Amino acid sequence: MVGSRVQLTKAGREYKACCPFHSEKTASFWVSPEKQFYHCFGCGAHGTALRFLMEYDHMSFPEAIEDLAGRLGLTVPHEGGGGGPDPQNAPLYELMGRVTQFYAQTLAATARAGQYVAQRGLTAETMQRFALGYAPDAWDAVLSRFGARETDRRALAATGLIIERSGGRGEGHYDRFRDRIMFPIRDSRGRTIAFGGRVLDRGEPKYLNSPETALFHKGHELYGLYESRLAGGTLKRLVVVEGYMDVVRLHQAGITYAVATLGTSTTPDHLKRIFRLVREVVFAFDGDRAGRGAAWRALQHALPEAREGREIRFLFLPEGHDPDSLVGAEGRAAFEQRLDGALPLSEYLVRELSAEVDIAHADGRARLAEAARPLIGKVPAGVYRELLIARMAEVVGLPAERLEALWQDGMALPPPAAARAPLRPQHSAGRGSLVRQALARLVRFPGIAGTITDAERAELQNCTEAGAELLRGLLDDLRARPLQIAAQVIERWRDRPGGEHLGRLLEREAVLDDEAAAAVELQAALGKLVDLGVDQRLRALETQSRSRSLSEQELKEFQMLTSRKAIRNGKPVRR
Ligand code: GTP
Ligand code: MN
Repeated sequence: MVGSRVQLTKAGREYKACCPFHSEKTASFWVSPEKQFYHCFGCGAHGTALRFLMEYDHMSFPEAIEDLAGRLGLTVPHEGGGGGPDPQNAPLYELMGRVTQFYAQTLAATARAGQYVAQRGLTAETMQRFALGYAPDAWDAVLSRFGARETDRRALAATGLIIERSGGRGEGHYDRFRDRIMFPIRDSRGRTIAFGGRVLDRGEPKYLNSPETALFHKGHELYGLYESRLAGGTLKRLVVVEGYMDVVRLHQAGITYAVATLGTSTTPDHLKRIFRLVREVVFAFDGDRAGRGAAWRALQHALPEAREGREIRFLFLPEGHDPDSLVGAEGRAAFEQRLDGALPLSEYLVRELSAEVDIAHADGRARLAEAARPLIGKVPAGVYRELLIARMAEVVGLPAERLEALWQDGMALPPPAAARAPLRPQHSAGRGSLVRQALARLVRFPGIAGTITDAERAELQNCTEAGAELLRGLLDDLRARPLQIAAQVIERWRDRPGGEHLGRLLEREAVLDDEAAAAVELQAALGKLVDLGVDQRLRALETQSRSRSLSEQELKEFQMLTSRKAIRNGKPVRR
């Protein structure tokens, strides 16, 4: 939102700019889209999105509220500026709204259409909640009502509601949707941006969708998302199903967090939208072959979005059922029980991969390892990926280190989405990237410094990796004087040694978006740094012991370190 008023550049998950409230040359104005919060370190202006509208746009409080409500759920400022709705589209939205109403009125007035929806088990309340409608059985129902003037017809064509006759003299248009039950697809502000239309009984195609238009981008939208947000209460999870009817019937049954992709498979774009709202997503697919194919495609698209703190699970319905029929047959509670027991992504991955090979034999397991490599390569580096590798290693019957070594000897794992180094291999990379990972997380989410215990901090004391000193300094600083947002860290460290480095880290690390995950990753990185330090010290002592005998003190240290290492290595793998 602020992005439509001020030229923002991205810095981590936040944005910075020259402050609009005072004149300045260097950017000290920070915006955190997630927190809907801005702060200027130059003049001290700060506040919420609401206050920004009031101060900068000089809106009244109610105006600001209204504006913000309209924007909620919209994507945060786009990289590369632009953003913001295109004012040219306003008449198209308005037109789509009027057509939605028209279809709804027609449904109420057409007995045959009413009978169909009633026979599908839909209540009047549901029809209203989803603004369902009916497109009359005519070539010009919409055209004649909404296309009187040339400009109207151009708008209708731009929304995909009418189609230009091809061949002949190219004269004239006709209605795209005829004799169909109409499902308005609405954006996060509730505006109709497209329609799906279902034939009443038999007929081809069963569903007809609006084409891609200025308002509608299929790979981005989720049917039912607006209605799910509207349902009230806090959204904790979303269930992704395949069909319009599935969404509508699930909502009607009280599962008001169901959405559907629009005849496409789930895209990473969809997942991003979903995870902006909730931490948990369950994909529910029909139990038939097509459903399993769709699930596998969804899994592949989900891998780049998988990480700690996010739950991605898969539910396979009994053969012959879709969510619509199943919730009709067994009701909300039973369906939700199925959702609760859905298969985690990791287990689904293992199940599918091992179904294709004979894991009783070594070369079957080798093939499994081979097949898993490109998939795991899509998962961003982090604890989740480590756990996935550990799980895969368990199935293959190798220690995780061996499996990874195998993968690296062959074709290296493709770099993860954000091209960050994976957590494990940097022991050899030796560029202090564990330190870098820890620093990046601390800067991005300074609050997580508080999760580090005194004991953990003390263990870092002997770490000699490049940057370790900065890491200790930052950790101590944040533990002593906690901060909550990245901008504050950059500001406090502006003139300290390493401060510039922290700023650059924040700008480059664009992938961090989950504080809980970052805390876990910080712990993991610190743990590995400590391990690294232990290994180095052990090796040094060993080298010394070859040229002279160790002192009593050194021997004690050696024993302590070896037993410590054994304990850490023997630690069971967390699942
Ligand atoms: P019902 O038969 O009304 O229960 O439909 P459904 O919602 O269960 O749909 P189905 O499982 O047959 O298909 C799932 C989704 O795929 C639909 O909601 C549509 O989005 C899409 N779809 C199905 N058939 C067609 C078609 O013929 N053309 C297009 N473009 N999409 C279709
Ligand atoms: Mn169905």
